[in-house]
Amino acid sequence: MISPELIREKVQSVVQLQALPAVATKVVEMLDNPKTNTSALARIISMDQALTAKVLKIANSPFYGFPKKISTIEFAIIVLGYEALKEIVISTSLIGSLEEESNGLFDTRAFWDHAIASGVLARRLARDLGYRVSGEAFVGGLLHDMGVSVLSRYYRDEYQRIVGIVRETDLNFVEAEETVLGVTHAEVGGWLAERWFLPDHLVEAVSLHHAPANATRNPDLAALIHCGDVFACRIMGTAEFDKGIEFDHDALARLQLNDDARKEEYMASYSSLVQAELAQLARGADAPEEGVRDHEG
Ligand SMILES: [Fe+2]
Ligand SMILES: [Fe+2]
Repeated sequence: MISPELIREKVQSVVQLQALPAVATKVVEMLDNPKTNTSALARIISMDQALTAKVLKIANSPFYGFPKKISTIEFAIIVLGYEALKEIVISTSLIGSLEEESNGLFDTRAFWDHAIASGVLARRLARDLGYRVSGEAFVGGLLHDMGVSVLSRYYRDEYQRIVGIVRETDLNFVEAEETVLGVTHAEVGGWLAERWFLPDHLVEAVSLHHAPANATRNPDLAALIHCGDVFACRIMGTAEFDKGIEFDHDALARLQLNDDARKEEYMASYSSLVQAELAQLARGADAPEEGVRDHEG
């Protein structure tokens, strides 16, 4: 087995070489400039098809609660606001820089659907439960499984063995990762977050998203991101790499969701929002998530 230390070194040195794509750098620069206007910003974002698709998908998420369909980037900027846009551009570009094309082992589309659903659900939960960390909950939710993306790309053989174990046995993904690699996608994601100089409490929330009760820096944030993840699995279907995921009881208790009726109430209301969106997508021709599937990283 490769030593966890070696994996950490590789993850952190490989990622050191990955710069933010030019479009993302430009967008972040523009967002920091008070003179930037919406149409100039929209023009730059529109140059990147994958980024455009993701921004529109997030803006159209029912959890943002905007009743009308958002089909242009300009409109999305107005609805989301500059701060949220900046979070979206940075986090989607960070994962995008690691991303592999879909293959039999890694499904890019499923990965993004899960990332976006977890991000918007963690954000929504933070708001609904009165926590003031909704922006960080969103970023953490979006990034929490990025370790999977790294493993599938840089540890292809081991990843293949992990997926094989998950498909053929009762072990869940994390157990299979421990068997094959001795580390999990959660730890790997945390190392990356560290390399990207994300705040300590976000690093912690990513690396403990399957064990949020161990968080010490910001246990609330870790609990929100964990619950966003599990809600996303329950509502949208479980991604292969989250097979067997269960709610952590301490996290539920921390958010006062340990009362089953209350938890189910939240789940039902979020689930009906998603159903409404799916119905709307089925009716409308120009589904905003088209294009995500063509993403080339
Ligand atoms: Fe995970
Ligand atoms: Fe997940």
